[in-house]
Amino acid sequence: MQSNAATTSLWTATAQIPANPPLAGDTETDVCVVGGGIAGLTAAYLLAKEGRQVLLIDALDVGAGETGRTTAHFMPPDERYFEIVKRLGVEKAALLRDSFEQAISQVEAIVQNEQITCDFRRLDGYLVPAAEGGADIIDKEHAATSRLGVDAERLLRVPGLEWDTGAALCFHRQAQFHPVKYMAGLLRAIKRLGGSVHGGTRARELASSHEGITVTTERGAIRARAVVVATNTPFNTRVIMHTKVVGYHSYVVGMKVPRGALAPFLLWDTADPYHYVRLDAQEGEQPYDILVVGGQDHKVGQDGTPQHRYDELEAWTRQRFPQAGEVVYRWSGEVMEPADGVAYLGRAPGEKGEVYLITGDSGTGMTHCTAGAMLITDLIQGRSNPWVPLYNPARKPIHSMGEYMMEQANTLAQYTDWLQGGEVSAPDRIPPGEGALIRDGLKLMAVHRANDGRLTFLSAACPHMGCAVHWNSGEKSWDCPCHGSRFDIEGNVLHGPSAAPLAKVAAGKHG
Ligand SMILES: Cc1cc2nc3c(=O)[nH]c(=O)nc-3n(C[C@H](O)[C@H](O)[C@H](O)COP(=O)(O)OP(=O)(O)OC[C@H]3O[C@@H](n4cnc5c(N)ncnc54)[C@H](O)[C@@H]3O)c2cc1C
Ligand code: FES
Repeated sequence: MQSNAATTSLWTATAQIPANPPLAGDTETDVCVVGGGIAGLTAAYLLAKEGRQVLLIDALDVGAGETGRTTAHFMPPDERYFEIVKRLGVEKAALLRDSFEQAISQVEAIVQNEQITCDFRRLDGYLVPAAEGGADIIDKEHAATSRLGVDAERLLRVPGLEWDTGAALCFHRQAQFHPVKYMAGLLRAIKRLGGSVHGGTRARELASSHEGITVTTERGAIRARAVVVATNTPFNTRVIMHTKVVGYHSYVVGMKVPRGALAPFLLWDTADPYHYVRLDAQEGEQPYDILVVGGQDHKVGQDGTPQHRYDELEAWTRQRFPQAGEVVYRWSGEVMEPADGVAYLGRAPGEKGEVYLITGDSGTGMTHCTAGAMLITDLIQGRSNPWVPLYNPARKPIHSMGEYMMEQANTLAQYTDWLQGGEVSAPDRIPPGEGALIRDGLKLMAVHRANDGRLTFLSAACPHMGCAVHWNSGEKSWDCPCHGSRFDIEGNVLHGPSAAPLAKVAAGKHG
């Protein structure tokens, strides 16, 4: 199964999704879905179920993106309800609550109707205080959830753990599942309903008019009445969405715990960035389950040697869960953070035709993406949907201007890389299996040395908007610190918004 990163998640190690053939030339369809993660697959499934002719394409293949690297907690919004009430008001916060509850119920219904064996279960999720100011956050969130009628209660501590968490907020009827098994089930159902699915087919451009939309791919052009861009971060808008969405890298460790030592639970804390924990009960004869712990986030492209983040997660876990044994998984992935804490789901701004977006789903992509697919299905089917004003992708982040300006300043600062020298003076300074930036006159080159010594010279200029990419030794990729594009050692796109690869360049005096 394909993946957009070098590390292997628990999910891709324990389940497979069948490969899908590339598109074979120009074609027409009713709805074209671009992207085969939870967002695109759910949209394709719901639309196919309503009788639409659906064609889904993926640059790599179904499941190759962040849904294969998630931890799949179905939990309340990352941005707490009390913050949402403060920024957007009670009415919109109540819409958010509804959309989250309905998204979980939608997934539950799909699992039942399609008989998808994906370890879906409802369970309690606990928000616990991190050291500083945590108790105050729990109190404020408790007040907001009571006001909004969220099914939550305040407890003196999380039950069943040796770790005394302190007063916690328990959210009832949250959920978890195995994301790769779920995507495999959705894919099967889409095909049964007559949908076509193509891997190895990257959308490069999208041209929309009132008459229809053309998606240009490497394998042919697709003419469609409506297009759903579900590529995690949109490839079709150059600027308009990318100042409002920021890519963060998040890290996960999976550690063995004796089977049955812990009952399944979800937990996350009030730290920023926060830690998130779940238990994955293993199948078969093994005498252990896997405790999955994530966190240690940073902006994409802004930590080239992130291995220490896994060690920090492991240390955090051992302090709180004495049952934790051997570390058997370490993986990372990209999370798209929206400026105001709410995803962008709905009609794409700036497009004349029926183009829809699902992006900015933050650390709650399971619910946000499912809600997005439900909302867009309603719009394509000509039905109204109450969540439209909440999630409108054209909205401006006026209620979170401080955070927005800070992110913009951080992005602008990345362009000063072009004024710096390289990171090393010559390719022989690059260890085998690693990469570094080398200056050659006015050129900044991204140079990789393979284990056998072979050198690859690429332009360091990200094709999206020209920031200099940085080497990520954890995932063996070139990552852009501005809007989160990522590229492999040959320059091929692993994650957008760039739809074009890094340019190959001559080695110059380093050849
Ligand atoms: C470490 C980690 C932990 C997380 N934990 C949670 C959690 O506990 N709960 C939660 O709800 N969310 C969590 N998230 C977030 C969640 O995983 C994501 O929000 C969600 O998976 C995004 O789904 P998606 O369908 O939008 O994107 P993806 O799954 O990335 O799918 C997008 C697809 O589009 C394809 N594509 C990209 N560009 C193109 C193009 N130009 N043409 C064609 N195809 C293209 C890609 O190949 C990819 O397959 C986590 C994320 C990470 C990384
Ligand atoms: S992702 Fe925007 S400049 Fe690289």
